[in-house]
Amino acid sequence: MTDLFGAVEADPHSEAGTRPDLRVMLDAQRQTCPVFHEPDGTVTLLAHGDVRAAALDPATFSSAVSAHRALPNSLDGEEHRVYRRLIDAYLTDDEVRAQEPQCRSHAAAIVRGLPRGATVRTVLDIGTPYAVRVQSSWLGWPAAIEDELVDWMADNREATRSGDRRRTAEVAERFDLIISRLLDARRDGGVDDATSRLMADRVDGRRLEHAEIVSILRNWTAGDLGSLAASVGVIVHHLATDVALQAHLRQLVAANRTEDFEDAMEEILRIDDPFVSNRRVTTRDTVVGGEPIPAGTRVALNWTAANRDPAAFGDPDAFDPAQHADASLVFGIGPHRCPGRALTLMELRVIIWELLARTTRIAMSPERGPVRELPPVSGWAKVPIVLDPV
Ligand code: HEM
Repeated sequence: MTDLFGAVEADPHSEAGTRPDLRVMLDAQRQTCPVFHEPDGTVTLLAHGDVRAAALDPATFSSAVSAHRALPNSLDGEEHRVYRRLIDAYLTDDEVRAQEPQCRSHAAAIVRGLPRGATVRTVLDIGTPYAVRVQSSWLGWPAAIEDELVDWMADNREATRSGDRRRTAEVAERFDLIISRLLDARRDGGVDDATSRLMADRVDGRRLEHAEIVSILRNWTAGDLGSLAASVGVIVHHLATDVALQAHLRQLVAANRTEDFEDAMEEILRIDDPFVSNRRVTTRDTVVGGEPIPAGTRVALNWTAANRDPAAFGDPDAFDPAQHADASLVFGIGPHRCPGRALTLMELRVIIWELLARTTRIAMSPERGPVRELPPVSGWAKVPIVLDPV
């Protein structure tokens, strides 16, 4: 048996055209073998119905996948609910609205600084600095750590791609050290930002412990920095290669239709979901897609594959937010559904809106082609574009 990505060890330096597209591989795999047994014993679920059902059945598909306690990701049941309540309070619609002016000023500064008529690197010049800045201003982190966070994002992506657990653990540890330093700098109080609020917050009538705060902040930031930058790449690539869709979004900007604009962001991410999968472990013997899965099996819920399942969406590449919103699994489903959805969609709306409002056309660069990420990472590593001035 080969592993799901066995065929793509290939050349990591290969460019567009020669790099495999994870979506194509997953589409084929889902059609032939929607419940895929990896050589290491993990069972990967690829069909929309199976992924959805597993995410909605935490009693059978537990999130306690490792000895390491991740808040709230690795928790189940009542313990999970307690921490989710605490976390959700930082990500309400009001909290998100309060962040919007800062996001807009970061987006405006980035877009104003981009050259017109010359090649712009979407992920590196737009997605990455935007992700780091909006997150830092939300959490009150100093601009001085921006470069460190950008380096960390690159190393984290490489570690994920390598599949080497030791390397992933090392990168995670480095992130914890960055967070610990930020917490130490706040011990004397006097700062009012989300990080300081979290340090004073209480769970079960007691203050959060240092390790708990680090874990919560890691799960707000570590993966999501990369997801936001990758999402900007996916959306800009989509607009630069689909003239009609770009014209449609320009109309939404002109008509100030923010809600429809956010629906469009989510639908583009459904078509090309860069947030590939999450893990579970079975608590009892079960059956998925007619296949018996014993208790104690590691299971991967593959959102990217599920979001392109023709059984749920017909033509997976058709852009149809109204038709597809209910079944979309971009932000998951069930008790672990992403608490950062509203924040993410606002942040994406603001940066893409700014790009459209300050240009007349976004086109792919004639000099260089786009480059996919290497599986198991999805989305685009490089999206070179050219912006036409207003
Ligand atoms: C493009 C951006 C993002 C995507 C596609 C995304 C997607 C997801 C998905 C699919 C899950 C479900 C995980 C599961 O069922 O195991 C999830 C969970 C989570 N997300 Fe996001 N997310 C994004 C951004 C964010 C942001 C900006 C934050 C925080 C500020 C965030 C915080 C979390 C947390 C804490 C969880 C775990 C929730 C729990 O276990 O109860 N995410 N995300």
